[in-house]
Amino acid sequence: MAENPSMMRVKVEDLESGMVTADNVIEPGTERVLLLKGTTLDSVMIFNLKERYNVGEVWIKKSFIATNIAAEMKAEINIHESLNTLKDVFGSDESRPITELTQEASQQISNVTNELITSLYADDNILLKMHQLQSYDDYTYKHCLRVAMMSATIGKSLDLPRKRMRDLCEAALLHDIGKRTIDVDIIRKPGRLTDDEFTAIKKHPQNGYLLLRKNGGYSEEVMNAVLMHHEKFDGTGYPLGLKGEQITYLARIITVADVYDALTSNRPYRQPWSVAEAEEFMMGGANTHFDYNIITAFLAAFTPFPVGQKVILSDGRIGEVVSNTTNVLRPVIKVTEKGGSETIDLYNDFRYLTLSIKALDKRNMNLVEAD
Ligand SMILES: [Fe+2]
Repeated sequence: MAENPSMMRVKVEDLESGMVTADNVIEPGTERVLLLKGTTLDSVMIFNLKERYNVGEVWIKKSFIATNIAAEMKAEINIHESLNTLKDVFGSDESRPITELTQEASQQISNVTNELITSLYADDNILLKMHQLQSYDDYTYKHCLRVAMMSATIGKSLDLPRKRMRDLCEAALLHDIGKRTIDVDIIRKPGRLTDDEFTAIKKHPQNGYLLLRKNGGYSEEVMNAVLMHHEKFDGTGYPLGLKGEQITYLARIITVADVYDALTSNRPYRQPWSVAEAEEFMMGGANTHFDYNIITAFLAAFTPFPVGQKVILSDGRIGEVVSNTTNVLRPVIKVTEKGGSETIDLYNDFRYLTLSIKALDKRNMNLVEAD
């Protein structure tokens, strides 16, 4: 097999769980395929390759060697690091549009993807971390990280295989990279856009696609998801006006995550919508704006008040979600005050008609600002 910079041969005794094969593994002396290309190794597979089949070396994807093993060990996405990485990729000086996505940048995106996927399957509380990322400024790279977290959550609910999950996360992380090719004054303009400005903004999916194509390392699947993330299921989106299944599956997932994030984020001209309002809007758009099946998966996967989430109650007190198993919209809240603590089951409590969650408490959430 020809040398390829994205893979390397690893001796069987040096293999570790979590590494991914870059080519089929064949039994020595036969034609028999023991493992297919793209398999994530576990300890049983490694044992068998070594002890049972006497395989000497295996082609392994390089991007999985350091980053994935390290991520597996901590099994938690480091938001601070991921944000800084994305800030680098998107260019830290917003006033200077970017003209390319370097190989180094795509390797960084691949590393964040590995971390995101690993923590997702390790049951790290991704949605809580996604909420923690919402703050008053709204840089494109932060939006992209949140959209990737939500897209990954939906993808997991749809049981996407790992390879597609990787494509989905990479595309979601980069879906708005094209905005960085457009004048920042237009992107950040608080008021109504002129027709010309709107036309310029609407070019960002194509521009993102072109940046990825110029990079050369991305599949059609990833590039098309970036290109099509503003298409609508009924054909009224842009840039191509595609309809239904003409829009790729990954693009349809990213659209759902993207719109949810836009609604629940702060904008200079409006307050963020509450999670309940946003959820209602998303449901109303099934089969017009969105793919019905993906909205169903979104609703199944989405926990508006994840465990650990700080919330403001309608009586003004601050509490923390301790359980949300009975009813996701009416979780169990622990309120800690000077005199002690109270646990309130908002679904079964006698005050259920008078006490509710008013909002997410975001006051202490900017702990994860990128440097
Ligand atoms: Fe966009």
